[in-house]
Amino acid sequence: MMKSIHAFVLAVAVLALQFSPLVSFADEQKAVLITGASTGIGRNMAERLAKDGYFVYAGARKAKDLEALNAIENIQAVRLDVTSQDDVDAAVAMITEEGRGLWGLVNNAGVATAGAVVDMEDSDLDFVLNVNVNGVVRVTRAFIPLIVESKGRIVTTGSIAGILSRPGGSAYSMSKHAMEAFADSLAGELAPVGVHVSLIEPGSYKSMIRRTTVARIAKNVEAAGGAVTDEVKQRMKAAADREVTLEEPDAVSDAAVHALFSETPRRRYMVVPDQFEAEITIRKAIEELVQLNTGHDYSYDRDELVQMLDDALSPQSASD
Ligand SMILES: NC(=O)c1ccc[n+]([C@@H]2O[C@H](COP(=O)([O-])OP(=O)(O)OC[C@H]3O[C@@H](n4cnc5c(N)ncnc54)[C@H](OP(=O)(O)O)[C@@H]3O)[C@@H](O)[C@H]2O)c1
Repeated sequence: MMKSIHAFVLAVAVLALQFSPLVSFADEQKAVLITGASTGIGRNMAERLAKDGYFVYAGARKAKDLEALNAIENIQAVRLDVTSQDDVDAAVAMITEEGRGLWGLVNNAGVATAGAVVDMEDSDLDFVLNVNVNGVVRVTRAFIPLIVESKGRIVTTGSIAGILSRPGGSAYSMSKHAMEAFADSLAGELAPVGVHVSLIEPGSYKSMIRRTTVARIAKNVEAAGGAVTDEVKQRMKAAADREVTLEEPDAVSDAAVHALFSETPRRRYMVVPDQFEAEITIRKAIEELVQLNTGHDYSYDRDELVQMLDDALSPQSASD
Protein backbone atom coordinates (compact mmCIF):
# COMPACT_ATOMS: atom_id res chain seq x y z
CA MET A 1 0.00 0.00 0.00
CA MET A 2 2.75 2.38 1.13
CA LYS A 3 4.71 1.54 -2.03
CA SER A 4 1.79 2.31 -4.31
CA ILE A 5 1.20 5.69 -2.57
CA HIS A 6 4.86 6.51 -3.14
CA ALA A 7 4.57 5.45 -6.79
CA PHE A 8 1.46 7.61 -7.18
CA VAL A 9 3.16 10.65 -5.59
CA LEU A 10 6.20 10.07 -7.79
CA ALA A 11 4.05 9.81 -10.92
CA VAL A 12 2.27 13.06 -10.03
CA ALA A 13 5.62 14.74 -9.36
CA VAL A 14 6.97 13.57 -12.72
CA LEU A 15 3.85 14.79 -14.50
CA ALA A 16 4.14 18.12 -12.68
CA LEU A 17 7.77 18.36 -13.73
CA GLN A 18 6.81 17.64 -17.31
CA PHE A 19 4.08 20.22 -17.48
CA SER A 20 5.02 22.88 -14.97
CA PRO A 21 7.79 24.55 -16.97
CA LEU A 22 5.36 25.23 -19.80
CA VAL A 23 2.52 26.33 -17.56
CA SER A 24 4.62 28.50 -15.32
CA PHE A 25 6.47 29.90 -18.32
CA ALA A 26 3.20 31.00 -19.87
CA ASP A 27 1.97 32.34 -16.53
CA GLU A 28 5.13 34.10 -15.57
CA GLN A 29 6.41 35.39 -18.89
CA LYS A 30 6.29 39.03 -17.99
CA ALA A 31 5.60 41.47 -20.80
CA VAL A 32 7.51 44.69 -21.31
CA LEU A 33 6.92 47.49 -23.82
CA ILE A 34 10.06 49.24 -25.07
CA THR A 35 9.69 52.40 -27.14
CA GLY A 36 12.26 53.17 -29.84
CA ALA A 37 13.35 49.56 -30.25
CA SER A 38 14.36 49.73 -33.93
CA THR A 39 18.06 50.46 -33.31
CA GLY A 40 20.67 51.20 -30.65
CA ILE A 41 19.89 50.87 -26.96
CA GLY A 42 16.20 49.99 -27.41
CA ARG A 43 17.03 47.24 -29.89
CA ASN A 44 19.72 45.88 -27.57
CA MET A 45 17.25 45.84 -24.65
CA ALA A 46 14.53 44.19 -26.73
CA GLU A 47 16.85 41.41 -27.92
CA ARG A 48 18.25 40.88 -24.42
CA LEU A 49 14.85 40.63 -22.72
CA ALA A 50 13.51 38.35 -25.46
CA LYS A 51 16.58 36.11 -25.14
CA ASP A 52 16.06 35.97 -21.36
CA GLY A 53 12.53 34.65 -22.00
CA TYR A 54 10.48 37.77 -21.36
CA PHE A 55 7.82 38.90 -23.81
CA VAL A 56 8.68 42.16 -25.52
CA TYR A 57 6.35 44.60 -27.21
CA ALA A 58 8.90 46.47 -29.31
CA GLY A 59 7.93 49.95 -30.47
CA ALA A 60 9.09 51.02 -33.92
CA ARG A 61 7.93 53.29 -36.72
CA LYS A 62 9.14 51.94 -40.04
CA ALA A 63 7.70 48.86 -41.78
CA LYS A 64 11.12 47.26 -42.24
CA ASP A 65 11.91 47.65 -38.53
CA LEU A 66 8.53 46.24 -37.48
CA GLU A 67 9.13 43.27 -39.76
CA ALA A 68 12.65 42.65 -38.46
CA LEU A 69 11.49 42.83 -34.83
CA ASN A 70 8.55 40.49 -35.49
CA ALA A 71 10.99 37.90 -36.80
CA ILE A 72 12.60 37.58 -33.34
CA GLU A 73 11.23 35.00 -30.92
CA ASN A 74 9.36 36.54 -27.94
CA ILE A 75 9.09 39.92 -29.66
CA GLN A 76 5.92 41.45 -31.02
CA ALA A 77 6.45 44.70 -32.86
CA VAL A 78 4.13 47.62 -32.14
CA ARG A 79 3.81 50.59 -34.47
CA LEU A 80 4.48 53.43 -32.07
CA ASP A 81 5.48 56.99 -32.81
CA VAL A 82 5.58 58.55 -29.34
CA THR A 83 4.53 61.93 -30.75
CA SER A 84 1.24 60.46 -32.03
CA GLN A 85 -1.61 60.12 -29.54
CA ASP A 86 -3.41 57.88 -32.07
CA ASP A 87 -0.44 55.48 -32.14
CA VAL A 88 -0.26 55.48 -28.34
CA ASP A 89 -4.00 54.79 -28.00
CA ALA A 90 -3.80 51.99 -30.58
CA ALA A 91 -0.82 50.44 -28.72
CA VAL A 92 -2.75 50.49 -25.42
CA ALA A 93 -5.77 48.88 -27.11
CA MET A 94 -3.62 46.22 -28.77
CA ILE A 95 -1.69 45.31 -25.62
CA THR A 96 -4.87 45.25 -23.53
CA GLU A 97 -6.54 42.98 -26.08
CA GLU A 98 -3.55 40.60 -26.08
CA GLY A 99 -4.50 39.83 -22.47
CA ARG A 100 -1.05 39.13 -21.04
CA GLY A 101 -1.00 42.38 -19.08
CA LEU A 102 2.02 44.64 -18.97
CA TRP A 103 4.71 44.32 -16.32
CA GLY A 104 7.10 46.95 -17.58
CA LEU A 105 7.28 50.08 -19.67
CA VAL A 106 10.66 51.27 -20.92
CA ASN A 107 10.55 54.82 -22.24
CA ASN A 108 13.56 54.69 -24.50
CA ALA A 109 12.74 56.50 -27.77
CA GLY A 110 14.88 59.60 -28.08
CA VAL A 111 16.36 62.09 -30.50
CA ALA A 112 19.05 64.74 -30.30
CA THR A 113 20.08 67.98 -31.90
CA ALA A 114 23.06 70.31 -31.63
CA GLY A 115 23.42 74.05 -31.74
CA ALA A 116 23.91 77.11 -29.57
CA VAL A 117 20.91 78.65 -27.80
CA VAL A 118 21.33 81.86 -29.77
CA ASP A 119 20.85 80.04 -33.08
CA MET A 120 18.21 77.57 -31.99
CA GLU A 121 15.09 77.34 -34.16
CA ASP A 122 11.80 76.79 -32.30
CA SER A 123 11.13 73.84 -34.59
CA ASP A 124 14.39 72.17 -33.55
CA LEU A 125 13.67 72.61 -29.85
CA ASP A 126 10.09 71.39 -30.31
CA PHE A 127 11.34 68.36 -32.23
CA VAL A 128 13.55 67.23 -29.34
CA LEU A 129 11.14 68.07 -26.52
CA ASN A 130 8.19 66.49 -28.28
CA VAL A 131 9.93 63.10 -28.43
CA ASN A 132 12.15 63.15 -25.34
CA VAL A 133 9.78 64.85 -22.91
CA ASN A 134 6.19 65.06 -24.17
CA GLY A 135 6.51 61.62 -25.77
CA VAL A 136 7.61 60.06 -22.48
CA VAL A 137 4.76 61.69 -20.57
CA ARG A 138 2.23 60.80 -23.30
CA VAL A 139 3.21 57.11 -23.35
CA THR A 140 3.56 56.78 -19.58
CA ARG A 141 0.19 58.39 -18.88
CA ALA A 142 -1.50 56.01 -21.30
CA PHE A 143 0.11 52.85 -19.87
CA ILE A 144 -0.08 53.69 -16.14
CA PRO A 145 -3.37 51.76 -15.64
CA LEU A 146 -1.87 48.55 -17.07
CA ILE A 147 1.33 48.94 -15.04
CA VAL A 148 -0.61 49.68 -11.85
CA GLU A 149 -2.69 46.55 -12.47
CA SER A 150 0.48 44.43 -12.50
CA LYS A 151 2.24 46.48 -9.76
CA GLY A 152 5.07 46.60 -12.25
CA ARG A 153 7.89 48.89 -13.30
CA ILE A 154 8.44 52.05 -15.32
CA VAL A 155 11.96 52.62 -16.60
CA THR A 156 13.14 55.61 -18.62
CA THR A 157 16.34 56.03 -20.60
CA GLY A 158 17.71 59.35 -19.44
CA SER A 159 21.36 60.21 -19.97
CA ILE A 160 24.39 61.60 -18.19
CA ALA A 161 23.23 64.68 -20.14
CA GLY A 162 20.57 64.81 -17.42
CA ILE A 163 23.42 65.98 -15.16
CA LEU A 164 25.85 67.51 -17.67
CA SER A 165 25.07 70.47 -19.93
CA ARG A 166 27.62 71.37 -22.55
CA PRO A 167 27.77 74.35 -24.90
CA GLY A 168 25.83 73.44 -28.02
CA GLY A 169 23.92 70.66 -26.29
CA SER A 170 21.23 72.60 -24.45
CA ALA A 171 18.12 71.16 -26.15
CA TYR A 172 19.14 67.55 -25.58
CA SER A 173 20.40 68.25 -22.02
CA MET A 174 17.22 70.14 -21.17
CA SER A 175 15.17 67.15 -22.29
CA LYS A 176 17.27 64.73 -20.24
CA HIS A 177 17.26 67.01 -17.17
CA ALA A 178 13.47 66.90 -17.49
CA MET A 179 13.63 63.11 -17.17
CA GLU A 180 15.36 63.48 -13.79
CA ALA A 181 12.36 65.43 -12.49
CA PHE A 182 9.88 63.18 -14.28
CA ALA A 183 11.28 60.02 -12.69
CA ASP A 184 11.45 61.47 -9.17
CA SER A 185 7.91 62.90 -9.27
CA LEU A 186 6.44 59.79 -10.85
CA ALA A 187 8.22 57.52 -8.37
CA GLY A 188 6.59 59.35 -5.46
CA GLU A 189 3.20 59.26 -7.14
CA LEU A 190 3.25 55.54 -7.94
CA ALA A 191 5.05 54.11 -4.89
CA PRO A 192 1.78 53.98 -2.89
CA VAL A 193 0.25 51.70 -5.55
CA GLY A 194 3.25 49.39 -5.69
CA VAL A 195 4.87 50.57 -8.94
CA HIS A 196 8.63 51.23 -8.99
CA VAL A 197 10.14 53.90 -11.23
CA SER A 198 13.78 53.94 -12.39
CA LEU A 199 15.96 56.10 -14.56
CA ILE A 200 18.87 54.74 -16.58
CA GLU A 201 21.56 57.31 -17.34
CA PRO A 202 23.89 56.01 -20.03
CA GLY A 203 27.12 57.60 -21.15
CA SER A 204 28.31 57.14 -24.74
CA TYR A 205 27.33 53.85 -26.38
CA LYS A 206 27.03 52.65 -29.93
CA SER A 207 23.67 53.45 -31.53
CA MET A 208 22.38 55.49 -34.47
CA ILE A 209 21.68 58.69 -32.54
CA ARG A 210 24.74 60.70 -33.61
CA ARG A 211 24.51 59.69 -37.26
CA THR A 212 20.76 60.36 -37.37
CA THR A 213 21.28 63.75 -35.75
CA VAL A 214 24.02 64.97 -38.07
CA ALA A 215 22.08 63.78 -41.12
CA ARG A 216 18.97 65.63 -39.91
CA ILE A 217 20.89 68.85 -39.22
CA ALA A 218 22.51 68.75 -42.67
CA LYS A 219 19.13 68.14 -44.31
CA ASN A 220 17.57 71.08 -42.42
CA VAL A 221 20.39 73.44 -43.37
CA GLU A 222 20.06 72.49 -47.03
CA ALA A 223 16.23 72.68 -46.93
CA ALA A 224 16.59 76.24 -45.60
CA GLY A 225 18.71 77.10 -48.64
CA GLY A 226 21.98 77.04 -46.71
CA ALA A 227 25.12 75.16 -47.54
CA VAL A 228 26.84 72.75 -45.24
CA THR A 229 30.39 74.01 -44.97
CA ASP A 230 33.39 71.71 -45.26
CA GLU A 231 34.20 72.34 -41.61
CA VAL A 232 30.70 71.26 -40.51
CA LYS A 233 30.87 68.25 -42.85
CA GLN A 234 34.16 67.30 -41.24
CA ARG A 235 32.70 67.57 -37.73
CA MET A 236 29.72 65.47 -38.77
CA LYS A 237 31.96 62.82 -40.26
CA ALA A 238 33.99 62.74 -37.05
CA ALA A 239 30.81 62.23 -34.97
CA ALA A 240 29.65 59.42 -37.26
CA ASP A 241 33.10 57.79 -37.30
CA ARG A 242 33.33 57.95 -33.51
CA GLU A 243 29.90 56.41 -33.05
CA VAL A 244 30.83 53.14 -34.73
CA THR A 245 33.83 52.74 -32.42
CA LEU A 246 31.73 52.97 -29.24
CA GLU A 247 30.89 49.96 -27.06
CA GLU A 248 27.66 48.06 -27.69
CA PRO A 249 25.11 49.09 -25.02
CA ASP A 250 25.00 45.66 -23.33
CA ALA A 251 25.67 47.21 -19.91
CA VAL A 252 22.71 49.55 -20.40
CA SER A 253 20.50 46.50 -20.99
CA ASP A 254 21.92 44.88 -17.83
CA ALA A 255 20.71 47.94 -15.91
CA ALA A 256 17.29 47.71 -17.57
CA VAL A 257 17.00 44.05 -16.55
CA HIS A 258 17.83 44.98 -12.96
CA ALA A 259 15.40 47.90 -12.91
CA LEU A 260 12.63 45.76 -14.40
CA PHE A 261 13.02 42.49 -12.54
CA SER A 262 15.19 42.83 -9.43
CA GLU A 263 13.52 42.61 -6.02
CA THR A 264 15.48 45.72 -5.11
CA PRO A 265 15.36 48.05 -8.12
CA ARG A 266 17.21 51.36 -7.83
CA ARG A 267 15.98 54.83 -8.71
CA ARG A 268 19.07 55.71 -10.76
CA TYR A 269 21.47 53.63 -12.82
CA MET A 270 24.38 55.56 -14.25
CA VAL A 271 25.97 53.30 -16.88
CA VAL A 272 29.15 54.62 -18.45
CA PRO A 273 31.83 52.98 -20.56
CA ASP A 274 34.84 54.51 -18.78
CA GLN A 275 36.14 56.35 -15.72
CA PHE A 276 36.26 59.66 -17.58
CA GLU A 277 32.49 59.81 -18.13
CA ALA A 278 31.85 58.73 -14.52
CA GLU A 279 34.19 61.41 -13.22
CA ILE A 280 32.83 64.35 -15.23
CA THR A 281 29.27 63.43 -14.27
CA ILE A 282 29.91 62.97 -10.56
CA ARG A 283 32.11 66.09 -10.39
CA LYS A 284 29.33 68.08 -12.06
CA ALA A 285 26.81 66.86 -9.47
CA ILE A 286 29.21 67.85 -6.67
CA GLU A 287 29.90 71.23 -8.28
CA GLU A 288 26.18 71.91 -8.35
CA LEU A 289 25.87 70.88 -4.70
CA VAL A 290 28.63 73.34 -3.77
CA GLN A 291 26.97 76.11 -5.81
CA LEU A 292 23.68 75.47 -4.00
CA ASN A 293 25.48 75.63 -0.66
CA THR A 294 27.31 78.89 -1.33
CA GLY A 295 26.47 82.53 -0.65
CA HIS A 296 23.42 82.40 1.60
CA ASP A 297 22.53 82.26 5.30
CA TYR A 298 21.55 78.62 5.40
CA SER A 299 24.57 76.82 4.01
CA TYR A 300 26.33 73.90 5.71
CA ASP A 301 29.98 73.58 6.71
CA ARG A 302 32.26 70.83 5.42
CA ASP A 303 31.64 68.42 8.34
CA GLU A 304 27.91 68.78 8.02
CA LEU A 305 28.14 68.13 4.27
CA VAL A 306 30.27 65.04 4.88
CA GLN A 307 27.69 63.82 7.40
CA MET A 308 24.95 64.33 4.81
CA LEU A 309 26.99 62.36 2.28
CA ASP A 310 27.46 59.55 4.81
CA ASP A 311 23.72 59.52 5.48
CA ALA A 312 23.01 59.32 1.75
CA LEU A 313 25.56 56.52 1.38
CA SER A 314 23.87 54.40 4.04
CA PRO A 315 22.53 51.24 2.36
CA GLN A 316 18.90 52.16 2.97
CA SER A 317 18.96 55.58 1.31
CA ALA A 318 21.38 54.49 -1.44
CA SER A 319 18.92 51.82 -2.64
CA ASP A 320 16.18 54.28 -3.53
N1 LIG B 1 23.69 56.06 -27.40
C1 LIG B 1 24.10 56.82 -26.43
O1 LIG B 1 25.30 57.07 -26.28
C2 LIG B 1 23.08 57.37 -25.45
C3 LIG B 1 23.57 57.94 -24.28
C4 LIG B 1 22.66 58.42 -23.36
C5 LIG B 1 21.31 58.31 -23.60
N2 LIG B 1 20.86 57.77 -24.76
C6 LIG B 1 19.41 57.67 -24.94
O2 LIG B 1 19.08 56.36 -25.34
C7 LIG B 1 17.84 56.36 -26.00
C8 LIG B 1 17.97 55.53 -27.27
O3 LIG B 1 18.83 56.20 -28.18
P1 LIG B 1 19.97 55.48 -28.98
O4 LIG B 1 21.24 56.08 -28.58
O5 LIG B 1 19.80 54.02 -28.94
O6 LIG B 1 19.68 56.07 -30.45
P2 LIG B 1 19.08 55.45 -31.76
O7 LIG B 1 19.83 54.26 -32.20
O8 LIG B 1 18.97 56.60 -32.70
O9 LIG B 1 17.63 54.98 -31.31
C9 LIG B 1 16.60 55.92 -31.08
C10 LIG B 1 15.29 55.20 -31.14
O10 LIG B 1 14.24 56.15 -30.89
C11 LIG B 1 13.30 56.03 -31.94
N3 LIG B 1 12.52 57.25 -32.16
C12 LIG B 1 12.94 58.46 -32.58
N4 LIG B 1 11.89 59.30 -32.69
C13 LIG B 1 10.80 58.59 -32.32
C14 LIG B 1 9.42 58.87 -32.22
N5 LIG B 1 8.91 60.06 -32.55
N6 LIG B 1 8.58 57.88 -31.79
C15 LIG B 1 9.05 56.66 -31.48
N7 LIG B 1 10.34 56.32 -31.59
C16 LIG B 1 11.19 57.27 -31.99
C17 LIG B 1 14.10 55.64 -33.15
O11 LIG B 1 13.22 55.11 -34.12
P3 LIG B 1 13.45 55.33 -35.70
O12 LIG B 1 14.48 54.30 -36.10
O13 LIG B 1 12.09 55.08 -36.29
O14 LIG B 1 13.93 56.74 -35.89
C18 LIG B 1 15.02 54.60 -32.53
O15 LIG B 1 14.34 53.38 -32.36
C19 LIG B 1 17.49 57.82 -26.24
O16 LIG B 1 16.54 58.23 -25.26
C20 LIG B 1 18.80 58.52 -26.03
O17 LIG B 1 18.64 59.86 -25.65
C21 LIG B 1 21.72 57.30 -25.69
